[in-house]
Amino acid sequence: MAIVLTGDRPTGKLHLGHYAGSLKNRVKLQDEYKSYIMIADTQALSDNYENPEKIKISILEVVKDYLAVGIDPKKCTIFIQSLVPELAELTMYYMNMVTIARLGRNPTVKNEMQQKGMEESVPAGFFCYPVSQTADITAFKAEVIPVGEDQLPMIEQTNEIVRRFNHTYKKDVLVECEAMLSNVRRLVGIDGNAKASKSLNNAIFLDDDESVIKEKVDAMYTDPQHIKVSDPGHVEGNVVFEYLDAFYSDKQEVEDLKQQYIKGGLGDSVLKSMLFDCLKDMLKPIREKRRSLVESELLQMLMDLSKVARDVAKDTLYDVKEAIGINY
Ligand code: TRP
Repeated sequence: MAIVLTGDRPTGKLHLGHYAGSLKNRVKLQDEYKSYIMIADTQALSDNYENPEKIKISILEVVKDYLAVGIDPKKCTIFIQSLVPELAELTMYYMNMVTIARLGRNPTVKNEMQQKGMEESVPAGFFCYPVSQTADITAFKAEVIPVGEDQLPMIEQTNEIVRRFNHTYKKDVLVECEAMLSNVRRLVGIDGNAKASKSLNNAIFLDDDESVIKEKVDAMYTDPQHIKVSDPGHVEGNVVFEYLDAFYSDKQEVEDLKQQYIKGGLGDSVLKSMLFDCLKDMLKPIREKRRSLVESELLQMLMDLSKVARDVAKDTLYDVKEAIGINY
């Protein structure tokens, strides 16, 4: 059975961007693959080292989101990164398999550094997080990584390190992986920004109440030139259509509505109320499941499953040290 692994940094609750981009895929995959999901608290600390409490609190929020969307802990090993210290040790050995110059060219890290204004003051831990991500993936010999588009450079970098390691130590211990992208590679923010995100304050969260969903849908950016219902409208860059594309089940109906909108005669409020109904129905069971979960049980589950994950990582660490020739 092929192995799938993915993870999220716990920095807050998950939103529709996560849901469309990879959570839905993970739910499907858990029946066909041996699945791991890692809560990347160590990685989250690399850009939140001054705020560990936020990370700690968010671990539970993220687990709740996972279970609420249908990830089943009986099928999927959900674990906490820092409870698997072997990952940190693997990272040390992989650090030698990559140059500073190569790390500096990683577009995802470069982007994030710019966004967070850390260009001059980037912590080494953050700069090197692609190496720790390589450890996360290879420790479980994962082959398939369901992620959003922004993570593609991580997969590329992982495979470079894998090849370099196997070549250097002349043994095929590590396994290359590939990304699995969902149809929705990146969900736009409700304000029309290219990406829905918590920090931009433009996302709909999985546990938003109906009144909040309504407010956010009403606030969605559409077409500023579409003033009267009879005016012809634009579909590209129109957030309501992007969300209907991502979440409305009847794709043909959405196509028909687009044609009508382009011609003129279809008002934003009709579309927004359709989208609201769709999101309301989709999120209601998720929110209810989320609120029914018991925190102490979740913590126990995470402890137990992290032990399971740790045993797997231990085996890989043994193989890695064996390949280098340092199992003293
Ligand atoms: N970098 C990912 C993020 O920012 C989280 C992550 C850490 C991850 N390790 C991983 C994702 C391994 C996939 C596989 O969300």
